[in-house]
Amino acid sequence: MASYPPEPYRIKMVEPIRLVDRPQREHALRQAGYNPFALRAEDVFIDLMTDSGTGAMSQEQWSALMLGDESYAGARSFYRLAEAVHDIFGFRFFVPTHQGRAAENILASLLVKEGQFVPSNMHFDTTYANIQARGGCPVNLVIPEASDCTNCHPFKGNMDVERLRRFIQENGPTRIPLGMITITNNAGGGQPVSMENLREVAQTYRQFGIPFFIDACRYAENAYFIKLREPGYAHKSTLEIAREIFALADGATMSAKKDAIVNIGGLLAMNDETLYQRACNELILREGFPTYGGLAGRDLDAIAVGLREGLDEDYLAFRLGQTAYLAERLLEEGLPIIEPPGGHAVYLDARRFLPHIPQIEFPGQALSVELYLEGGIRTVEIGSVMFAHPDPITGQMIHPDLELVRLAIPRRVYTQSHLDYVVRIAARIAARREQVHGYKMVYAPEALRHFTARFEPL
Ligand code: F0G
Repeated sequence: MASYPPEPYRIKMVEPIRLVDRPQREHALRQAGYNPFALRAEDVFIDLMTDSGTGAMSQEQWSALMLGDESYAGARSFYRLAEAVHDIFGFRFFVPTHQGRAAENILASLLVKEGQFVPSNMHFDTTYANIQARGGCPVNLVIPEASDCTNCHPFKGNMDVERLRRFIQENGPTRIPLGMITITNNAGGGQPVSMENLREVAQTYRQFGIPFFIDACRYAENAYFIKLREPGYAHKSTLEIAREIFALADGATMSAKKDAIVNIGGLLAMNDETLYQRACNELILREGFPTYGGLAGRDLDAIAVGLREGLDEDYLAFRLGQTAYLAERLLEEGLPIIEPPGGHAVYLDARRFLPHIPQIEFPGQALSVELYLEGGIRTVEIGSVMFAHPDPITGQMIHPDLELVRLAIPRRVYTQSHLDYVVRIAARIAARREQVHGYKMVYAPEALRHFTARFEPL
């Protein structure tokens, strides 16, 4: 068992959680249409639905909130955030936004036109949807190793640069208004991208005159993976690595709810002054004045402090260690996961966990439901509920390659005994896996259906 350093903090404030009894859990799930998104949080014991906005802020962040300057324009809070953003990212301009998808919306609205392509390793679903909402076509060009659950490539989030080059040549750079990359690659298991790959991707985009934007939600975890795994980086600080990453790009979108360890916030950064001016105008229309971007002044201060804390190497060693610990304990119990584990989450492979449930009966959803029934654990399905869609020509259902259940770990929130509990519950389900049955979907909206779909047990 790999050991990892203990939490580099102690707990000063606690939030009670409680496991409601089995009949209550059954009732809550029925009410929720067997969709964990519709559960009330008070009925959840361990909430691993997301690591987004669910972290615990530090005493420095809470103190910073008290210094928040709520001036409409030019607040001190904005300049404190600007200093942190400039120091870490180094881009010439930035605007705060209320979360990551707001930054994506503004960027897509300014750059993407009907019929244009936006390549990435893998777009997160909000990025994907924001590009589509402008008539664009998001394209995922991650390396093939990413879809092999047990391939232990150290940088499974890497872009397939050969395919990227071919894609640009075949479609023409004028049809590609920007190129992106997501670090770490959330949709592909929270896997990191290497500096070498980032460099090649940047060079390829530059060669064709395509602006390069990084989806930087989990950039600090990615930087620490580079430090741990990439030759030549062991002696560099995560701050130096982060600067080296962003120096390769023309801009970035970021949800501060991840590696800036705040409950709300985001940003859009860029070097191009004209683009910045257009972003400001768009921001004023939709989000707020460019020095607050839809947030309170105090939120900007919390992000400024959190950006630096998110890069702290003692914290990152614990953070990635804790995720790896959960993964190893699950493997010890013989439970199938995506290997190697990512930075923010461990993904259970539901097809191997529940081999008797066919994809049309949503094995990922079945496992997610079972984790709640058995132990009050909330997770999210990333499989057919999220991605299955009818073929536009034949009408036949196309299912994704992977049926996953994500166990996302909120930052600085749960302890090792919470994770040991999760492993025990998962092992208990595995021991009686034949009794777990599939589900049928009885309601689904047209887009982003996983949020509000309803199910019935088969
Ligand atoms: N990009 C990535 C890689 C993300 O993981 C997310 C959010 C976003 C963009 C959008 O940011 O939520 O602030 O608007 N991911 C969350 C998750 C929701 O659960 O993985 P947002």
